[in-house]
Amino acid sequence: MIISDDNNKNIKNKGASNDAPKCKSQDLEAKEVDFDKTYEKNIRPKTFEEYIGQSALKDTLKITIEASKKRNVPLDHLLFYGPPGLGKTTLAGVIANEIGVNIKITSAPSLERPRDIIGILMSLKGGEILFIDEIHRLNKVAEEILYPAMEDFFIDLTTGKSQSVKTMRVPVPKFTLIGATTKAGALSGPLRDRFGIIHRLEFYTIDELAQVIKRSAKILNIKIDDEGAKEIASRSRATPRIANRLIKRSADYALVKFDGKIITKQIAKEALDSLCIDNLGLDTTDRALLELIINNYDGGPVGVETLSVALGEDVRTIEDVYEPFLLQKGLIARTNRGRRATKLAYKHLGIRYTEQNGQMGLFD
Ligand SMILES: Nc1ncnc2c1ncn2[C@@H]1O[C@H](COP(=O)(O)OP(=O)(O)OP(=O)(O)O)[C@@H](O)[C@H]1O
Ligand SMILES: [Mg+2]
Repeated sequence: MIISDDNNKNIKNKGASNDAPKCKSQDLEAKEVDFDKTYEKNIRPKTFEEYIGQSALKDTLKITIEASKKRNVPLDHLLFYGPPGLGKTTLAGVIANEIGVNIKITSAPSLERPRDIIGILMSLKGGEILFIDEIHRLNKVAEEILYPAMEDFFIDLTTGKSQSVKTMRVPVPKFTLIGATTKAGALSGPLRDRFGIIHRLEFYTIDELAQVIKRSAKILNIKIDDEGAKEIASRSRATPRIANRLIKRSADYALVKFDGKIITKQIAKEALDSLCIDNLGLDTTDRALLELIINNYDGGPVGVETLSVALGEDVRTIEDVYEPFLLQKGLIARTNRGRRATKLAYKHLGIRYTEQNGQMGLFD
């Protein structure tokens, strides 16, 4: 699905080398949307073998799982962090499947009242996995209920009012908590310290994404050649969720404009060009963000709040969705006075780089 908007209408679109003027903003954020739910469910890996990449993390997990089986104790609590769409939730499911236990999935915003977290803890069976998404958003009360549950498998329940308040210590089954967050830094120290393994998920290489794409193509029942898979992989922002979305779009394009049997490099290129995704995988909003810094703020530094207002995107989306990839690609730099566009960003957009309005000339 493409959600177009006119957020970018106030931003001058100056000389971008590989954008098309008719491009509008796309829904290419790596966030889940309803229409993709069934497809996502089908393509979501269930075993370590199907789960591509993240090999260091997988190796650590395999050893931890093996050890906990040998000791016959539940797995240590795990915390996964990293940008959206890199496979945190998927990995939690894979772990549950590999151990052969049930997983209960919830997210911090739905654990607002003490009874929400108490209810879920009491409903667990021994060995089960509790997955809490967006765990950095857990409130203080819920966190404090969780601490003894994570450490010693009990919770303190209070009954009665004011002077007759009584505290009861109630055991909870031995469980494993898997927390996921896009913002590890926002987690409180005491909560972070209670996880046995804390691991950042890495961006994926083009080869890894090409494997993800080929697997999904099989599930979509369409052929894709190596070059086609590589073309989509190189424009997928190093993120499997986006790779899966783009292979679906390319399959649609191949079906409507061609015979729908195979995706070649040419078909993938045309499909992605029509979605305004450039050769680095940047979409219209990424480019608008860079152009804003360059054209309106002389390359920066500029604060994220200012960018947020000008782009009509909220600060969190800019910080969690757009920036990590732009930073990884070396297109922006973070300074303590805000974000700065790098020379590479000028080059990518085909904008002349000058120092301080100066006439230092072209940089390449
Ligand atoms: N290692 C992988 N191998 C193959 N496919 C993957 C892998 N990781 C993720 N995917 C695919 O990408 C999609 C997104 O992954 P997932 O929902 O686990 O990301 P997430 O990190 O939990 O994102 P969010 O922060 O938005 O919750 C999944 O549906 C899955 O199909
Ligand atoms: Mg998730």
